[in-house]
Amino acid sequence: MNYDVLAQKIYTARTKLYHFFIHLVGYARGVKKFMINGNYIQSNMRILDAGCGGGLVTKIMHHIAKKQRFTTVSFFGFDLTPAMLDYFRSWITKKNIKNISLAKIDVLKPKQLPPDWKNFDLVVVSGMLEHLPRHRIVEGIRNLKYLLKPDGTLLIFICRKNWFAYWIIKKWWKAETYTAQEMKAIMQDAGLIFSLKPFSGFYRYLNYWLHIIEGKKSWISLSGLPFAVNLLLC
Ligand SMILES: C[S@@+](CC[C@H](N)C(=O)[O-])C[C@H]1O[C@@H](n2cnc3c(N)ncnc32)[C@H](O)[C@@H]1O
Repeated sequence: MNYDVLAQKIYTARTKLYHFFIHLVGYARGVKKFMINGNYIQSNMRILDAGCGGGLVTKIMHHIAKKQRFTTVSFFGFDLTPAMLDYFRSWITKKNIKNISLAKIDVLKPKQLPPDWKNFDLVVVSGMLEHLPRHRIVEGIRNLKYLLKPDGTLLIFICRKNWFAYWIIKKWWKAETYTAQEMKAIMQDAGLIFSLKPFSGFYRYLNYWLHIIEGKKSWISLSGLPFAVNLLLC
């Protein structure tokens, strides 16, 4: 079965189950803490959630922006599965939110993107790259890299390869998992400067399950400090 048909089949059948499962393991709270600690959300940003699904990560980022009174942040999200997008849209409508735009797009078919979906300050991808065939993950990451501003940040949350992930992610969710070494080679292949980041404090247990990778196109970071200096500092 093609990667796109399989992903849509899984997430159409398991939309509610996915959200139950992901909240049960504390992922949303861990991501929120990580985003706050890393100061990833700033005013006037254009932020893309690639493979946004039901909007778990965008909802977190939207909440952070609202709390900080960053009213000028614009959010964009795309996903392959209409059922997941509908789940997200119903929340957007219920909350009467105006600064989130959604579209049905396959990350491996970037021509589907609306022409103005580019120059993002931050592109976040959580749990989606696992659904690409292994030999196409670099292509998926490169497609996201092209959507960044020159000093933009790509933030990847991706499942680790271990026995736990073998049963949960590979067998149950029919997705791929990666070692840190594999992810380093993939990031290099995609032409990104990158660093691996941890979940911290109470949410450290999520490090057993996921890699967090921050990637940049150039050595110049958002803060103006060379990215290499930031790498040394973190
Ligand atoms: C594990 S869910 C993650 C959803 C959300 N990012 C989160 O963190 O809760 C994976 C999502 O990736 C989407 N997906 C899988 N393959 C994709 C592709 N090629 N392009 C875009 N989205 C894809 C699925 O439809 C699904 O909604």
